[in-house]
Amino acid sequence: MITVNNKTFVPFIEAEAIQTRIQELAEQINQEYADKKPLLVVVLNGAFLFAADLMKHLTIPCEITFLRVSSYQGTESTGQLKQILGLSQSVEGRDLIVVEDIVDTGRTLFDLCDQLQQQGPASLTIATLLFKPEALQKPLDLHYVGFSIENRFVLGYGLDYDGLGRNTPNILVLES
Ligand code: XMP
Ligand code: MG
Repeated sequence: MITVNNKTFVPFIEAEAIQTRIQELAEQINQEYADKKPLLVVVLNGAFLFAADLMKHLTIPCEITFLRVSSYQGTESTGQLKQILGLSQSVEGRDLIVVEDIVDTGRTLFDLCDQLQQQGPASLTIATLLFKPEALQKPLDLHYVGFSIENRFVLGYGLDYDGLGRNTPNILVLES
């Protein structure tokens, strides 16, 4: 159990289960991209641990790049994606795997993937560690999902509450 800014979070997904699941996802990617050289496009900040652990288990030739997204209103789940920040590499003709920590309403990734598609990649798939199916509001095709979870606020393993709580090997959920 940890407390962040007076909110209590209790254990939800064990560190070992996370690592096992990531290995499974990596094996699937190794098979499906056996004849390709994918570019992992990591959405910062939340996905940094997931991306690192996933990439360790990829045995195919692959590259990694990072971006941030900014939103008009600043509030994550209601804001419209404004622009992509920091994508330094051309994605034209590349096989992209967008790596995200969590898909909630799906708005962030829907807009992000739309902008990436405009740059003409050869293909684009999504790998998200967590997915809240009940919250989804956009038609998103999620190719690699670590865990589908209920619609509750989680933190840990890269995910934060007000910038804190990213530094745990497990995932915790807000106590209800
Ligand atoms: P949307 O709604 O666009 O949101 O799919 C995706 C982004 O919202 C953040 N988010 C969370 N962050 N615990 C977090 O720490 C959560 O339960 C949660 N739900 C959504 C996250 O930044 C994600 O990229
Ligand atoms: Mg995020």
